[in-house]
Amino acid sequence: MSTTDESPEGAPDSSGEKAAMEMNQIVLPQHSNALGTVFGGTIMSWIDICAAMAAQRHSRSVVVTASMDQLDFLLPIKVGQLVNMRATINYVGRSSMEVGVRVESENMLSGERIHTASAYLTFVALDEHGRAKPVPPITPRTAAEKLRYREAEVRRDQRLELAKKRSLLALEASREQGGEEAGR
Ligand SMILES: CC(C)(COP(=O)(O)OP(=O)(O)OC[C@H]1O[C@@H](n2cnc3c(N)ncnc32)[C@H](O)[C@@H]1OP(=O)(O)O)[C@@H](O)C(=O)NCCC(=O)NCCS
Repeated sequence: MSTTDESPEGAPDSSGEKAAMEMNQIVLPQHSNALGTVFGGTIMSWIDICAAMAAQRHSRSVVVTASMDQLDFLLPIKVGQLVNMRATINYVGRSSMEVGVRVESENMLSGERIHTASAYLTFVALDEHGRAKPVPPITPRTAAEKLRYREAEVRRDQRLELAKKRSLLALEASREQGGEEAGR
């Protein structure tokens, strides 16, 4: 991973990969359930930390988790295995950033690595007053970055659409309740 502010072409490097963050955890007995595999909530907590570090690194600001749009557990991870998390900035709005996290398990004896989970979280950068503040944009460059950017846009559009529908439903429900009370 490059640590300079310049891409190979000499242009400012604003790719989401620049802030990429990796985190490793060994699964200990206290992380496991009765099946000897790691608790989903433990993985969620590690994902949140790894993603927050990438968002903080990209924005150079305090960040808060606003939402987790998707989390898929694909395969269990056993006690004694290494959990590797890799977070990249997929998409940047004005003050929000979507971070994608790929989770892999590693068998420390054989070296075998398996993709075990994927998650998409949104973080918001805050200023010193705790208000949302603008963050640097990203320019997806590779085909993979462009795909991740477009997919993140779709998730954002769906989230905003759902929020709109939910407020319309809440408005309808409060009108119905008002009508019922007036009819009593
Ligand atoms: C996230 C939070 C800062 C947003 O505050 P807000 O007053 O709604 O801010 P705004 O309406 O100005 O929106 C700011 C950005 O947040 C995004 N946002 C707000 N709510 C969101 C949600 N539920 N999911 C994803 N993004 C969200 C907006 O889309 C906007 O993005 P943009 O600037 O890129 O367009 C606020 O809801 C909050 O503090 N939540 C609690 C966070 C927390 O405690 N997390 C757990 C511990 S870290």
